[in-house]
Amino acid sequence: MAQEAVIARLDQEVNDFVNRTLMFKEDAWTKNRCRAFVLQHRQNTRYRNSVLKLKVATNCPIWDIKIDIIEACAQEIIADNEYGGGQAHWQILEDLGVSIGMDRDEMQAATPSAATQLSWDAWAGLMTNSHWLLGLIGNTCTERVNVPGYGTGGTKEFGWFGNMRGIWKEIWELDDSKLNFFKLHTEADIEHSELGWRTVGEYAAELHLEDEVVEACRRNLVVWENYLNGICHLGDSMD
Ligand SMILES: [Fe+2]
Ligand SMILES: [Fe+2]
Repeated sequence: MAQEAVIARLDQEVNDFVNRTLMFKEDAWTKNRCRAFVLQHRQNTRYRNSVLKLKVATNCPIWDIKIDIIEACAQEIIADNEYGGGQAHWQILEDLGVSIGMDRDEMQAATPSAATQLSWDAWAGLMTNSHWLLGLIGNTCTERVNVPGYGTGGTKEFGWFGNMRGIWKEIWELDDSKLNFFKLHTEADIEHSELGWRTVGEYAAELHLEDEVVEACRRNLVVWENYLNGICHLGDSMD
């Protein structure tokens, strides 16, 4: 019962985040916002999974959870043999960029925008120096949005990337084979976010961290809001 209560509060935080963040609005996507997403999110995935999330693994004393965190990171930055055909997620995103006409050299030379850099610095405060259970919520809270049920409209029906898949398909007239970045996340992120949600369910009460995990979720999602709104603003500046 206490478990269900804390999970319900986390779900409420995710729902509020989806409802207030620019990128989840209907008609949020323009071609330049798509380009900005590729440029920033490729870097973000590499940084979060090679630095921030691994610090949470370092801080976690429970072997099986530590290994699950490292395995999820490895799928993102080294190779995803389960959902990604052996490519890392950032490579699949880079290929998506090529599919929409972007230059691979330009993607590889991209640097973090001010909003992205600020977000990394803020996440460092929330994820690297906190109790591992609070860090784990930082690792997984936004992957949760890929599970259907949060927000409204297409995001609620298909999950975040499930919905984006249809939108990008239409904007760029891509066929399904080019849209694997979104498809794989619908599957991989159910697993990645379950790691966070299930573990919080199991340990929050035992560790007396119920209020703290909800607050950590809220604060991490404020940073995600800054990061994702920053992508929209960067895209708009390219119009
Ligand atoms: Fe990923
Ligand atoms: Fe993931």
